[in-house]
Amino acid sequence: MTLQNSIKALAALGALYGATVAAVPTANCCSLLEAALPGRILSIGSANYATVNHDFWSSTTVLSPGCIFSPTSSQEVARAVKLFTDNQCKFAVRGGGHSAVPGAANTNDGVLIVTEGLNERTVTNENSVWIGAGNTWGPVYDFLGPSHKAVVAGRYYPVGTGLLLGAGLSFFGNELGLAIDNVRTYEVVLYNGTIVHASATSHPNLHRALKGGGDNYGVITRYELMTNNIPDWIWGGMVYYNQSQLSQVEDVVYDYHVDKAVNDVKTHVLPQYGFNGTTNETINFSPIFYNGALNSTPAALQPWLDAQPYRNTMRQAQMVDLAREFNAGFEYGLVQVQRTFTIYADKEFFHDVWYQFQVWLQEYRHIPGFYGLHCNMPVTPNAVQEGVRNGGNVLGLEGAGSRTLSILYFGLTFNNLSDTDKVFPAFAKFVESMIRLAEQRGVRHPYIMWSYAGHDQRVIESYGQENNDFLRRVKQDYDPAGTFTNLVSGGFKLPARGY
Ligand SMILES: Cc1cc2nc3c(=O)[nH]c(=O)nc-3n(C[C@H](O)[C@H](O)[C@H](O)COP(=O)(O)OP(=O)(O)OC[C@H]3O[C@@H](n4cnc5c(N)ncnc54)[C@H](O)[C@@H]3O)c2cc1C
Ligand SMILES: *[C@@H]1O[C@H](CO)[C@@H](O)[C@H](O)[C@H]1NC(C)=O
Ligand SMILES: *[C@@H]1O[C@H](CO)[C@@H](O)[C@H](O)[C@H]1NC(C)=O
Ligand SMILES: *[C@@H]1O[C@H](CO)[C@@H](O)[C@H](O)[C@H]1NC(C)=O
Ligand SMILES: *[C@@H]1O[C@H](CO)[C@@H](O)[C@H](O)[C@H]1NC(C)=O
Ligand SMILES: *[C@@H]1O[C@H](CO)[C@@H](O)[C@H](O)[C@H]1NC(C)=O
Repeated sequence: MTLQNSIKALAALGALYGATVAAVPTANCCSLLEAALPGRILSIGSANYATVNHDFWSSTTVLSPGCIFSPTSSQEVARAVKLFTDNQCKFAVRGGGHSAVPGAANTNDGVLIVTEGLNERTVTNENSVWIGAGNTWGPVYDFLGPSHKAVVAGRYYPVGTGLLLGAGLSFFGNELGLAIDNVRTYEVVLYNGTIVHASATSHPNLHRALKGGGDNYGVITRYELMTNNIPDWIWGGMVYYNQSQLSQVEDVVYDYHVDKAVNDVKTHVLPQYGFNGTTNETINFSPIFYNGALNSTPAALQPWLDAQPYRNTMRQAQMVDLAREFNAGFEYGLVQVQRTFTIYADKEFFHDVWYQFQVWLQEYRHIPGFYGLHCNMPVTPNAVQEGVRNGGNVLGLEGAGSRTLSILYFGLTFNNLSDTDKVFPAFAKFVESMIRLAEQRGVRHPYIMWSYAGHDQRVIESYGQENNDFLRRVKQDYDPAGTFTNLVSGGFKLPARGY
């Protein structure tokens, strides 16, 4: 298959998202937009179009939008969205561009809204910060660092605000819950160009719906995030383990889920296993963190040292330093694909699924640039309760009770789009077989986390019937004609019925 055909196939994948509508040709939409908001549009062929259109993490997500709209205010977004609705123009919205799903944040037959011009960062006196939708997390930590504050948000420097719509795993999750549970206010442009502030006291149903309902309701222009206080420095870094240490690391990963993450909420670890096809080497390299001004590794993190990392960068650090360090190696411009599912933390299943993934990865290791990544990411009972305390979200995690959940992540990287046909279907099949195994073992939880889901995984459905019914009622109130279902290709759609 030629590169050109691969891109077409991926574009078709993206097109699966929206129902078809009799849309106005994109060229007309671009002209209308240029007339309404002169100077904000990049046309195909202009110097900046190519640069801006390549600013995506995964090469699968670089498509061919009819033009690119780069607003600098919420009002400009509002005018554009109204124009899109009035003229049935298709569009997509990009935050930090880190979704690996083709068509999530780009489009082949519409206008791409890029948010980098929405770059506000303003601290309020109520322990919160307003950040424009175009921010990425590194600069936000950098901005808040001097005032000894941080936000419950992404852990990697260049990742964007898209995670505030789906879930959001952070350095502070064990103590403060998911990122969505720490959004005080979403500023949302509705289909008709009206701007609303959704919070616990204003449009509360919309506020709750957005905490997991993603981009089904509008374009978010700004977020008011609760800030938490942090000390002068925090203790953190990365621990690396060779193959020979991995069985001991597996024990530590499980213990972290059911004991340390639960009982010392200041800890954070993101257990990551990586397989490099070129070298046939497997390592574990895990971001590790303690929210305290320590001078040495605390008892709760000691098991990670006992497992004898060959490299350990734990030190006194600033949040932004960690965000930068952890992102090193996650290069732009490669083929990326991801899938996920959720289990109740289970030692035997952790072991078996990782073992089987390694066997599966062997078959594809000759593909240029091939790399496999597997993570076990805890969501503790306290994290779920924090969500409830903050007004509730729509993810449907409350039923897990006193058991720690683990978000299992599967990711592949390789160089060349021409290899996608060989790999993607087999990868999907493999992960589906692991979901069935989890089912058979009685350890599966239905939840599929938005931020790590594959393009065809049923994210919103996974939240359960009650939450789907709630989301549909809110949709009636705020997007009655289904503009964000029909005109916006990206994201995971709220199903019209069922769940
Ligand atoms: C290296 C790396 C590190 C990561 N680290 C973390 C982590 O620590 N925690 C975590 O939870 N996840 C993490 N993720 C997953 C990440 O949260 C998701 O990829 C998320 O979608 C990224 O958001 P974005 O704004 O960068 O992406 P984009 O691809 O720009 O957007 C993602 C989705 O959100 C929609 N969207 C974005 N902005 C808006 C808006 N303003 N209005 C309406 N819709 C919008 C887009 O249309 C798209 O559907 C990581 C991913 C990578 C690749
Ligand atoms: C562990 O990995 C390091 C770095 O790649 C390497 O130098 C070392 O030889 C490895 N040790 C073992 C025991 O495999
Ligand atoms: C895999 O190993 C090769 C060869 O050492 C190296 O060039 C490449 O950077 C590695 N890939 C990753 C993602 O670490
Ligand atoms: C690659 O590593 C696996 C697992 O360690 C091993 O079984 C296999 O023989 C290795 N293959 C090569 C070609 O070295
Ligand atoms: C990608 O694969 C195609 C087809 O096999 C090949 O022609 C092309 O050179 C490859 N590109 C890169 C960058 O490896
Ligand atoms: C826009 O839609 C919202 C939600 O349906 C509605 O409350 C609001 O009055 C509408 N605004 C205008 C100007 O029609």
